Amino acid sequence: MIGCLNHVAIVVPDLREAALKYQQTLGAEVSEQQELVDHGVILVFVQLANTKIELLHPLGANSPISLFLERNPAGGIHHVCYEVDNIYEAANVLQEMGAKILGDGEPKIGAHGKPVLFLHPKEFFGTLIELEQK
Ligand code: CO
Repeated sequence: MIGCLNHVAIVVPDLREAALKYQQTLGAEVSEQQELVDHGVILVFVQLANTKIELLHPLGANSPISLFLERNPAGGIHHVCYEVDNIYEAANVLQEMGAKILGDGEPKIGAHGKPVLFLHPKEFFGTLIELEQK
């Protein structure tokens, strides 16, 4: 079902500082900051040859990653995202297999304008998994 690793998302306490560190210390290519108001995050993409790293910071009062940052004040890996050919088919198969899809179980448009869903970390060894339509 899963294909390429699309990205690893890291929540950071200071987005500007984190972007500079990836640029200057690691010599990485880093995008401009993007505000995703609907998702409650502000982020930059670190573009690697074979995948991306998303550096995320909460945006607004009800950001879904605020609590994560409270619990992990130095920052930390938040989720990994794998690509699937057909997200709706994947959702059906996962539900048949008893996997818990977060929210109402339906794929939602994600940060890249493509439908995504999230799988509960308790069922996947403590890792929040995002699946994104290829
Ligand atoms: Co993501």
